[in-house]
Amino acid sequence: MSAATEARHFGATTVVSDETLGFQMIFVIGLTSRSDRRDSMALAAAFTGLDIEYIDGATSIDDKAIPPEGLQNNVNRGSLLGWRAHMNVLRTIVERNITSALVMEDDVDWDIRIKSQMATFANASRLIVQPVKGTLDRHLDPTFPVPMENQTFQDFHVDDDLTSPPTTSPYGDLDRWDLLWLGHCGTRFPWPSDGNAPLGRVVIANDTTVPEKQHVNQELGSSELILEYPEHTRVVARARVNSCTLAYGITQAGARRFLYELGIHKLTNTCDMMFRFVCDGVDGRQLATCLTVQPQLFQHHRPAGSTAGYSDINDHSGEYHDKGSTANVRWSVRLNFPVLLNGSTEYIDQFPDAPPVGREALEMPQSPLD
Ligand SMILES: *[C@@H]1O[C@H](CO)[C@@H](O)[C@H](O)[C@H]1NC(C)=O
Ligand SMILES: *[C@@H]1O[C@H](CO)[C@@H](O)[C@H](O)[C@H]1NC(C)=O
Ligand SMILES: *[C@@H]1O[C@H](CO)[C@@H](O)[C@H](O)[C@H]1NC(C)=O
Ligand SMILES: *[C@@H]1O[C@H](CO)[C@@H](O)[C@H](O)[C@H]1NC(C)=O
Ligand SMILES: *[C@@H]1O[C@H](CO)[C@@H](O)[C@H](O)[C@H]1NC(C)=O
Repeated sequence: MSAATEARHFGATTVVSDETLGFQMIFVIGLTSRSDRRDSMALAAAFTGLDIEYIDGATSIDDKAIPPEGLQNNVNRGSLLGWRAHMNVLRTIVERNITSALVMEDDVDWDIRIKSQMATFANASRLIVQPVKGTLDRHLDPTFPVPMENQTFQDFHVDDDLTSPPTTSPYGDLDRWDLLWLGHCGTRFPWPSDGNAPLGRVVIANDTTVPEKQHVNQELGSSELILEYPEHTRVVARARVNSCTLAYGITQAGARRFLYELGIHKLTNTCDMMFRFVCDGVDGRQLATCLTVQPQLFQHHRPAGSTAGYSDINDHSGEYHDKGSTANVRWSVRLNFPVLLNGSTEYIDQFPDAPPVGREALEMPQSPLD
C-alpha cells in the first residue's frame, strides 16, 4: 500500500466502523472442538458486521518447545495450551507481516454498539499516544515518559481535539503503541509509585453504553473508576496489572515484542500474567506501550447451561445457569441474538439505569418569575 493510500485508508475515523474495526485483521483464538463457541462467535460477528478469522487453539505441546524457566515455574498444562494459542496468533501476525490486528478469545462478548465505542476509544487513545498538534514529539500528558517527583495524573477529555491526527491507524500511529488491552478481567490506573510509565487518563463522560456504578463489576481490578468518576464514565489510560487476555489490539512491532518476550525470552507465569509483565515493564521485561479501558469493551460471556464449558484451562464444572450473562456490557450481542434474529431494535439491556429519584420535581415547569 502506498503511503497516500494508507493515509486515506486509516486516517479517517469512519474506518473504525469497517468490518475489522480499523485493524488489518480480526483473529479469534479457539479450539476446533469447541463448536458451541464457534457457532455463537459466528453469529455475534455477523450481527455486528465483523470479519473474523479463526486461529486454532493448541491441543498439545512438546516439553522441548517450552521457553526457558517454563518447566520449573509450575504453569499447568491447560495454561500452557492457552499460552501456545496466543503465541500462534502472534506468530501469524509476524509471519504475514500484518500491520495491526485485533485478537479475541472465542468466548468474548461485546455491545451491539461496538463500532461507535471503538471510534470513541480511538479518539481517546490518540490523545495519549499522538503528539500535540503542531509538534513532532511533544505529548499532551506532562508525565510522559515518566512522572517527575510529586507529579500526579491529569484527566483529559475525549473531545479535546489537541493531538495531530494519525495516518497509519485510527488508534494512533502504528509506531506509537504496542497493545490495546480492550478485554480484561480487571485493571487499575497507573500510579506515580510505578515510576516507569505516564499517568494521563482520557475521560469519556456520559457514555450511555456504560452501566451505572451499582452494576459495574471491577473483577480483579481496583475500585478507582467507581470511586473517583461520575456515573456512566469510561476512562482510557496506560494498562497496569491487567489480567485475562480476552481481547487486544496489537501492532506488528507489538506482536514481535510479545512473541519474543513470551515465546523465546522466558516463560515465568500464565500467559495473561506475562502480557501484564511486559505492559508493566516488570519481571525483567522491557516496558511496552499498552493502553487499556475501564470498564472494558470486550468481556467473557457466560452462556446459559452448565458452567463446565466456561474454560478449557480451569475446572468450572458443577453449576448450571438458567440465564447467560456478560459483566459490564449493556446491549450484549450474545444475549440479544433472539432480538437481532427477528429484526427488532428493542434490545435487551442487562443493566437498565435505576429510575431517576425526584424526576417529577426536576421537571416541574419553571415559575415565570424565576
Ligand atoms: C512488512 O510491511 C511493511 C509495511 O507495513 C513493509 O515496509 C515491509 O517491507 C514488509 N516486510 C516484508 C518482509 O514484506
Ligand atoms: C473523534 O474526533 C474527531 C475529531 O475531533 C471528531 O470529528 C469525531 O466526531 C470523534 N469521534 C467520536 C466517535 O467521538
Ligand atoms: C514533594 O513534596 C514534598 C512534600 O510536600 C516536598 O517536601 C518536596 O520538596 C516535593 N518535591 C518536589 C521536587 O517538589
Ligand atoms: C455529563 O452530563 C452531566 C449531567 O447531564 C452534565 O452536567 C455534564 O456537563 C456532562 N459532561 C460532559 C463532559 O458532557
Ligand atoms: C423479538 O424477540 C424478542 C426476544 O425474544 C421479543 O421479546 C420480541 O417481542 C420480538 N419482537 C418481535 C417484533 O417479534
